[in-house]
Amino acid sequence: MTYDWKFKPRPYSDEEAKSLLKNVVSPETTDWHYNTHHKGYVTALNTIEKGLETADRSKANGNFSEVGELKRRFTWNHSGALLHDLYWEVLGGDGDPKKGPDILTAICYNW
Ligand SMILES: [Fe+2]
Repeated sequence: MTYDWKFKPRPYSDEEAKSLLKNVVSPETTDWHYNTHHKGYVTALNTIEKGLETADRSKANGNFSEVGELKRRFTWNHSGALLHDLYWEVLGGDGDPKKGPDILTAICYNW
């Protein structure tokens, strides 16, 4: 039985996201970013999990193995899913920079 990765809900609805981010990201991009891009990483993780169960280990050699390739792709897609979970969690608020002085200082320092 394979592990079933879940597409984590955002802390706000699709409609709330469009409104919340409207000053920096278009509603179309916000929707695509979550429902296509982010979801694609989770879909790929589940496909990879199934592939790991049936991978042909008999053809592995010193340069390539099906399991190795699946694990490489797993790392990429897991990072993508996890980073998007974090991205959605930290977006929000009312845009008042006085409520986040540390991040404001870091943004001004770096950019
Ligand atoms: Fe993205």
